[in-house]
Amino acid sequence: MIITLAGGGSTFTPGIVKSIALRREELEVDEIRLYDIDGERQRKVGVLVDWILHEDLGTDIKLTVTTDPKEAFTDASFVFAQMRVGKYAMREQDEKIPLRHGCVGQETCGCGGMAYGMRTIFPMVELIDLVEKYAKDDYWILNYSNPAAIVSEACRVLRPDARIINICDMPIAIIDVVCEALQIDKRDVEYDYFGLNHFGWFTSIRCKGEEILPELRDYIMEHEILLPDSYVKNAAKQGAMAGVKKDGGESGAEQNRHTKGSWYYVWKGVYEIMELFPEYLPNTYLNYYLQQKEFVEHSDPERTRANEVMDGREKSLFEGIDRYEATGEIDESIFYAGSHGDWIADLALALKNDTKARFLVICQNKGAIPNMPYDAMVELPAYIGKNGPEVISRDEIPLFQQGLMMQQVNCEKLLVEGCIEGSYEKVLKAFALNKTVPSIKVAKEVLDDMIEANKDYWPELK
Ligand code: NAD
Ligand code: G6P
Ligand code: MN
Repeated sequence: MIITLAGGGSTFTPGIVKSIALRREELEVDEIRLYDIDGERQRKVGVLVDWILHEDLGTDIKLTVTTDPKEAFTDASFVFAQMRVGKYAMREQDEKIPLRHGCVGQETCGCGGMAYGMRTIFPMVELIDLVEKYAKDDYWILNYSNPAAIVSEACRVLRPDARIINICDMPIAIIDVVCEALQIDKRDVEYDYFGLNHFGWFTSIRCKGEEILPELRDYIMEHEILLPDSYVKNAAKQGAMAGVKKDGGESGAEQNRHTKGSWYYVWKGVYEIMELFPEYLPNTYLNYYLQQKEFVEHSDPERTRANEVMDGREKSLFEGIDRYEATGEIDESIFYAGSHGDWIADLALALKNDTKARFLVICQNKGAIPNMPYDAMVELPAYIGKNGPEVISRDEIPLFQQGLMMQQVNCEKLLVEGCIEGSYEKVLKAFALNKTVPSIKVAKEVLDDMIEANKDYWPELK
């Protein structure tokens, strides 16, 4: 059984490999392959992966590191995709260009997400075609590559028969934080959720079958943030409370990475949203759409999340690998292991072993939310077995959420259409329709700057 990681040079590769290796008996995995278009970045990550597989965990899983698609995908059963088209340098542009025009600067939401989407659609289709060509007939691509909402819509349109499941680790990261705050075990937790990717709500969270949303609401109102006390104290010590942390400090598996640096604001934002709309627990990403003005106000247009990640997670990983190559000494805190890798490895396990375990997935609506379009890509709980997700249908959703989702879903659809057709007007309409953009004039200014910045990546728009 072969699992290939596409985007093998990702900062998340070591953690994902660790999660796979810890499940090696159930997954019956014989070989892990890393595939990337940046050979040197991936070679370095490969050195650490080799250590994890063969020295740390002492497995006999074969490791192949390659930039050749044929070698990467031949007879693979699973492809875990996690490519960042344009890398952090382009993420920085995605975040900084909109901020210069007073709009939310975020890598997957608003204008930044649309720019990242326009870079990723065609490489993703190319990846699917390579996997179709070389991998086993019953392959599964489990895709983390962002922006997952736009990527999944593009796959639906361009490669409707691909065996791809798009996923996100944010809901599970939120559940991790909830469990720590309320001191409960996440294995006892089940939840209901609806939305789009990075745009949804938890409508019920149950611990051992008992509803805990009221208790969680009380916790959030009392603490004025959704973070366990220990994290808040830590954040204060690190200076995150006063603003975006200046020195990165992103390494270490000892803490949930989503609670560091500027992530602080989104946990604060959960409180600010629930103070006004207490009905559901919002995904942290809703902050960018519901508190867009406040987000711009506390952002530093010269230093965004991309800088935190480059100075933190990326730097500590690659410096740590260089140190290992020079001295033979390894410090495990240079990479993350945990929920992000566990989530995708467990999903593979559910598919392979037909477990019918419950996951949140991005899927075509097909009536599961009755008052959303049939062809919208939504995020919903599903039971996962060997034939893929069996999505759990629900009742109609309230008008507020439905209105927000319709605006966002139409924006994403227009963007994908515009990108495929090379239509400037459609892409401009997508920018104008986004809730983070205040006027059509601003939409045009941001788009024109983004066309310039993305000229090596985007299709030509006419
Ligand atoms: P990273 O830049 O460290 O890694 C991405 C890798 O992808 C790089 O090594 C790059 O060379 C490679 N790449 C770029 N284009 C490629 C292509 N066409 N084919 C193969 N490889 C290619 O980025 P990261 O921060 O580790 O994140 C990796 C990806 O995972 C990103 O897309 C990120 O947005 C995504 N991510 C998603 C979730 C989620 O919830 N869905 C969570 C975390 C990360
Ligand atoms: C969450 C989201 C991902 C996103 C990531 C960014 O995990 O679900 O989709 O890629 O955050 O994290 P970063 O540490 O790179 O800012
Ligand atoms: Mn995500």
